[in-house]
Amino acid sequence: MSKEFKRYTITAALPYANGSKHIGHLAGAYLPADIYARYLRKNNKDVAFICGSDEHGAAITLQAIEEQTTPKEIVDKYHTLLIRCFRELGISFDIYHRTTEPLHHETAQEFFLNLYNKGELVEESSLQFYDEEANIFLADRYIIGTCPTCANEKAYGDQCEKCGRTLSPDELINPVSKLSGKTPVKKETTLWYLPLDRYEPWLKEWILNEHKEWKVNVYGQCKSWLDAGLNKRAVTRDLNWGVKVPLPNAEGKVLYVWFDAPIGYISATKQWAIDNHKNWEDYWKKEDTRLIHFIGKDNIVFHCIIFPAMLKAHGDYILPDNVPSNEFMNLEGDKMSTSRHWSVEMHDYISQFPYKSDQLRYCLISNMPETKDSEFTWKDFQTKNNSELVAILGNLVNRVMVLVHKYYGGQVPDVKGCDDLEKVIREAKEKVSHSLEQFRYREALNEMMNIARHGNKLLTDKEPWKLIKTDPEATKAVLYDCVQLIANLAIICEPFMPFTSKKLWEQLGIQDVNYSWEDIGRQDLIAINHVVAPAVILFEKIEDEIIDIQIKKLQDSKKPIEAPIHNEMEALKETITYEDFDKMDIRSGIIVEAKKVEKADKLLELKVDIGIETRTVVSGIAMYFKPEDIIGQQVSVLCNLAPRKLRGIESKGMILMASDKEGKLYFVNASSGVPAGSTIK
Ligand code: 2FM
Ligand code: ZN
Repeated sequence: MSKEFKRYTITAALPYANGSKHIGHLAGAYLPADIYARYLRKNNKDVAFICGSDEHGAAITLQAIEEQTTPKEIVDKYHTLLIRCFRELGISFDIYHRTTEPLHHETAQEFFLNLYNKGELVEESSLQFYDEEANIFLADRYIIGTCPTCANEKAYGDQCEKCGRTLSPDELINPVSKLSGKTPVKKETTLWYLPLDRYEPWLKEWILNEHKEWKVNVYGQCKSWLDAGLNKRAVTRDLNWGVKVPLPNAEGKVLYVWFDAPIGYISATKQWAIDNHKNWEDYWKKEDTRLIHFIGKDNIVFHCIIFPAMLKAHGDYILPDNVPSNEFMNLEGDKMSTSRHWSVEMHDYISQFPYKSDQLRYCLISNMPETKDSEFTWKDFQTKNNSELVAILGNLVNRVMVLVHKYYGGQVPDVKGCDDLEKVIREAKEKVSHSLEQFRYREALNEMMNIARHGNKLLTDKEPWKLIKTDPEATKAVLYDCVQLIANLAIICEPFMPFTSKKLWEQLGIQDVNYSWEDIGRQDLIAINHVVAPAVILFEKIEDEIIDIQIKKLQDSKKPIEAPIHNEMEALKETITYEDFDKMDIRSGIIVEAKKVEKADKLLELKVDIGIETRTVVSGIAMYFKPEDIIGQQVSVLCNLAPRKLRGIESKGMILMASDKEGKLYFVNASSGVPAGSTIK
């Protein structure tokens, strides 16, 4: 391990308990966090792996009104569902808490009061939208109206979901309250703010200078927030569902959900410490504790900027050492979305593929959206299962077990191996460790599988089924080595595929497993003459029909897109020659920085890595994409377009975009994994 820490506090984003979660969430935060926590535990580190349900917020209140139920009923239902899903998928939280617990309310209130008493919060009155019929101040999401860009009549006060534009309620045409359908009025209210601008110089130093090692997608997004300048953020809301503001005359006010949720990590740790006779403060206040937040990319600003500013303002806490956020995982060519019914929900997977959690984990890890968006397809899932898990790992184990039973009655042969197994496995282990410490899971998984590949090669090269006739001693050595290799796999695959690890130990006939990461590489894990269990099938082949059913189900459930506004297709342009086309130098690139161009609604200034260099491109996509959301986005760039100045900025090239009939823009990109600078023809 690179730097010595005494203990580790590993957090995974607290999911909102107002719905089920899909496999994109799993690949984004929970799976990488779990692999990391398991890896640390195998290294005998002191780990607190923390998560829980995020049960407050305006969205949950709104949903309760719509579904004519109470927020409590909603969160109870989904909290239970989430716990079950995570458990069945092998996510090994040390605690899964909830933000509606009294301990959390106390902790969040104490935190707020600490900041308030130190003068770290600013009190301000302002005019906010109010529903006179429902007697409630309206959060932005509670207000709907017509989008000024695309005329969608159902745009929300914070965003138009049709064209993607970020909005404020003031920009909506004919705003109405979602609760009563009436036009809201403006009414004065007092809110408390965290003045983020005060922390800007410190945050710049802390992130941009002291955390250059953070992943490029995370660092880039932080930089674009910091470059744009930070403003005060309200930390309270006028709402009756949440943690009450602990001040006199604050009736009807609660802490903003994004203020209380990250404090949920602390309250969950407190509960875990009570349950396990630990001191929670060690895990949050000691410099020799390493705090790591695992999140998806939509949570970066909260975990890298706002929560650290809160911790800094408080003063007693350590700061995150890293926030290895992933990007998004798309599904069959489109953005994964539960509300649009274009997703694979965790509970659906579990019920349709019972006892196949590791198969999903394997496929998600091998496709993890580590630095840019990636994609899950059912066909790929099938291929990963059939051509890798079944054909490489399962096949190896099965062949070895069958032969050991056939030749030696299931006993580990009594001739120690001669292959340079130890060296091969130790090298692979070093690579897996290094990759995991850099949060490069795809690479780590591949290195782990290389050990299994080595086992198969041993069998293919030595052919023990032939060798047995000519050289029984050499046959014993080969199979001895293969048994030891499988035992090594059982240790090293545990962070990735915990259920498979357990099955491997069962297959090896070992009950109490005490091996740690340090033991990987040993050629004597299983004793001579030890009896292994009869061969079982580790992984089953997944047939085409099963995959076709999933694909059809997905297609059938997709919500139809609302009627297009402009339904004319653009006419084809006049024919050009190949030479005309060949003049264009189009390359794949990756957006590494993005910010708004001042006083230009439509423009974003992008820094794009095109392989040979990183260059500035000004692009008219600001209505559709937030700068912080597109860091790490793979794009296609027309590189030899004559440079031109836009709002005083020299733009060198053009980002290619697809535009649908409604004018909505989409990035045009090569399939994932294509390196920056690849030419496109
Ligand atoms: O985006 C979300 O699902 C939030 N509920 C994440 C909260 S993370 C942390 F702050 F608790
Ligand atoms: Zn719109």
